[in-house]
Amino acid sequence: MDIYRLRAGITGIVVLLFSCGIVLAGCKEKSDTGGGGGSTQDRIVVGEFASLTGSTSTFGIATHEGIQLAIDEANQAGGIDGKQIQLITEDDRSKPEEATTVVTKLVTQDKVIAVLGEVSSTRSMNGAAVCQPNRTPMITPSSTNPEVTRKGDYIFRVCFTDDFQAAVAAKFAIDEGYRRVAIFKDIKNDYSVGFAKYFTEAFTRNGGQVVGEQNYQEGDQDFKAQLNTIKAMKPDAVLIPGYYSEVGTIARQAREIGLNVPLIGGDGWDSPQLIPGAGTALKGCYFTDHNFSVNSKEPETVRFVEAYRARYKKDPDALAALGYDAARILVAAMKAARPLTRETLRDAIAQTRDFPGVTGKITIDGDRNARKAAVIMRVEADKFDIYKVYTPEEVGL
Ligand code: PHE
Repeated sequence: MDIYRLRAGITGIVVLLFSCGIVLAGCKEKSDTGGGGGSTQDRIVVGEFASLTGSTSTFGIATHEGIQLAIDEANQAGGIDGKQIQLITEDDRSKPEEATTVVTKLVTQDKVIAVLGEVSSTRSMNGAAVCQPNRTPMITPSSTNPEVTRKGDYIFRVCFTDDFQAAVAAKFAIDEGYRRVAIFKDIKNDYSVGFAKYFTEAFTRNGGQVVGEQNYQEGDQDFKAQLNTIKAMKPDAVLIPGYYSEVGTIARQAREIGLNVPLIGGDGWDSPQLIPGAGTALKGCYFTDHNFSVNSKEPETVRFVEAYRARYKKDPDALAALGYDAARILVAAMKAARPLTRETLRDAIAQTRDFPGVTGKITIDGDRNARKAAVIMRVEADKFDIYKVYTPEEVGL
């Protein structure tokens, strides 16, 4: 992973230098965009980077829909001191290098006041590596790897982190009576690698045993060699902290080779494509996720679900809900920051306390993270639903 990071870093620098050239060349014709830290006379420019296409497109599309809804509601309510908010959304095509490129464009060319995104921790880390040195606030709705917000004091998240999420998965595994768990992770994905590490720590602490680990890479099609190795370990369950894009195929192939134990995942499984990809192979399996349900009775959540359904003709998922919360926290901070600059905005985001989000109450802590409950989702034949809720206190965090 270090070599991969190093390579990504070098690519990032090259991309940065290259796009700076383009920005300088492009500025002459496009002098009307941005200026003054994203604001002009009549509008405030906010950037978003998202995987609208590519391997994890459901993440980007759902998140974007939630963000756009929040921004449009804020504009309808009068915007920020009478100025309308303009959202510029860039598609990173689910690629880490492309995240660097498009965030560089948003920050240096569009001169956005803040950046929203991404879902994938690896892509958020690349975006943060551009936002932090440019002193541009960034809020990720759903990236859970602890390293993301460690990139610096301009980088925030409105969700929990993977040390907690993986501890919930470990507690759940123990509660279900699984003592011997094997891990199958995506070695190129920071979220997956981190989740595996935090799970191992918590599971071992609770008396469980990780009986072995195997790796795959995003885009792989044939997982049978590793699955056979895992089968020989005779685990009680297998943890697969990956994205829905591969989990469906992995689950099908596991069943094909006769590996029939429960599979456990994390929030990366949350997609309308999970069950279409897996068929019945994940029936009765579980994954940890953000605490959002369309059946919630909380007034804010009921209102959000109604507005989302009316606009998009479908139910919001946790990603849409987190996108909505991230954008609304940004809007609230833009209203509080006086005068509105990237610095005052940073301070206002950092002061977020007890914000009534549709994914729960959100307080940004000293490490720029949110402390929230997580849920266990149970996969049924044609849907998944909340099975259990765990608070940070319940897992000793
Ligand atoms: N938490 C995942 C990551 O950091 C992304 C994710 C969030 C995926 C929520 C699905 C739902 O990479």
